[in-house]
Amino acid sequence: MLRIDKLTKRFGRNVAVDAATLDVDKPCMIGIIGRSGAGKSTLLRMINRLTDATDGRIMVEGRDVTQLRGRDKRAWQADCAMIFQQFNLVPRIDVVSNVLHGTLNRRSTLATMFNLYPMADIHRAIDILDRLGIAEHAPKRAEALSGGQQQRVAIARALMQDPRIILADEPIASLDPMNAQTVMEALRRIHEEDGRTVICNLHTLDTARRYCDRVVGMRDGRIVFDGLPEQLTTGVAREIYGADASFSEAATSTEIDALDATTPLREAKALV
Ligand SMILES: Nc1ncnc2c1ncn2[C@@H]1O[C@H](COP(=O)(O)OP(=O)(O)O)[C@@H](O)[C@H]1O
Ligand SMILES: [Mg+2]
Repeated sequence: MLRIDKLTKRFGRNVAVDAATLDVDKPCMIGIIGRSGAGKSTLLRMINRLTDATDGRIMVEGRDVTQLRGRDKRAWQADCAMIFQQFNLVPRIDVVSNVLHGTLNRRSTLATMFNLYPMADIHRAIDILDRLGIAEHAPKRAEALSGGQQQRVAIARALMQDPRIILADEPIASLDPMNAQTVMEALRRIHEEDGRTVICNLHTLDTARRYCDRVVGMRDGRIVFDGLPEQLTTGVAREIYGADASFSEAATSTEIDALDATTPLREAKALV
């Protein structure tokens, strides 16, 4: 489905991502963890072609997407929609128009200039907002919504593109715990119900462990762990984050202690 092969990004002499190799053979929800500067954002940005790789390949159905140009590149970018920590909405325009922006890359310049959207797209946008529990906010300005609601608008905008893959770069880093939970649950549901792959950069271990089927750990640009949440022991976590003081900065000690106590959401669901 998606094969990342020795993907590398250098900024001058700094190697941001160092020969990262990752194989996704079925739709799943992957959490990428690691300290700040580990290369998580750069990896996602290369997958989406927001930034070009220095070396390596990204194979999707026999095509190397690092080589795509023009229309093919834009089609790929729509197929792996990106969500950001800061939502990247247009604050002063209404929610439904923000969601409709997800169709921009298949609309003509003229239609875009005059803000003309087909009725079918408007209905779809509202259906998606409804699914995410925020349809009643459709006519409001985006800036009037809470952070968690705004991030769900961003997810709705991504879903408008009907992407196969959703790339989320620290989607809950600016949210309070309640809103963070709502957003992670929305991403999990989109994966489970639609069969879309979600690749999510996350700051904390417990979030990755709770929501993801697979956890990838990055350190200094390299993938140093790739396995099941259950395999993410305290020792492994220390390897990913480094056992020094900055470890407690990246993930609090309670999160480490809680590692073996939290039941992953997937298992909790299987029990009911
Ligand atoms: N546009 C850029 N120019 C120069 N260096 C960059 C750029 N983007 C990222 N880097 C560097 O690449 C490394 C990885 O950064 P990043 O991918 O943002 O890590 P993370 O998302 O894990 O915090 C860091 O050392 C960072 O300073
Ligand atoms: Mg980052």
